[in-house]
Amino acid sequence: MNKSSQKQQQTQGFVPEVWFHTPVWSRKVVDFERINAQILAVLEELEAETESITRSNVGGWHSHDQIHQRNDMAEIRKVIGTACVGCATFMEFDFDNFDLVIKEMWLNKNGKGDFNKAHIHPNAILSGAYYVKTPEGSGNIELYDPVPARLMNVYPVKKRKPINLQAVEYKAEAGQLLVFPSWLQHSVQPNRAEDFRVSISFNVGFKPKGLSASLQNTHSNGSAAGDKLDLVSESD
Ligand SMILES: [Fe+2]
Repeated sequence: MNKSSQKQQQTQGFVPEVWFHTPVWSRKVVDFERINAQILAVLEELEAETESITRSNVGGWHSHDQIHQRNDMAEIRKVIGTACVGCATFMEFDFDNFDLVIKEMWLNKNGKGDFNKAHIHPNAILSGAYYVKTPEGSGNIELYDPVPARLMNVYPVKKRKPINLQAVEYKAEAGQLLVFPSWLQHSVQPNRAEDFRVSISFNVGFKPKGLSASLQNTHSNGSAAGDKLDLVSESD
């Protein structure tokens, strides 16, 4: 008897459909060592030029949230944009009538003891993290069950599986790209390493196709906030 028919027998053929999914995409980016070296150079420049801002970070250094507008961030912007187009396609996003846009992108640098409180990313549909420098023990990301009412229904389990987890942890590894719905609450564990940890975070939203650029927020450099994502494919 194969595994699925064993399961069928145990459940007497009464197998549920599972609704209200929480997709999380995770992949390694091609040629990440080279891309990360460039991102670290951008970080060094930004850190010297600008003050840190405070969002979910407790300690650490947090850049402004428009780093995707920089020419020297074009490559990772394309990688993230292409990945998000794939994620949105999986979610049946209406690309005929709407465009995806990168609304915000920023750099995080957590030193020893720094962490990020549990938070969501409001006013976006897809968010995520890309890992640039992650010494061992520098803090994994934790994602939390988005249905708080389920905490009223905690029961003894034989084995931890997606259907009974309250939280899930992804190891922060250089070159790894994680994408998830922006409403998914998450936090970053404290950095226990001696060296600092660097990641990029981002928010992707949408706008109707053909919406006049004058209706978009503009910046002093004249570029529209939330440029359409670069639709390029990676080499893998
Ligand atoms: Fe976040």
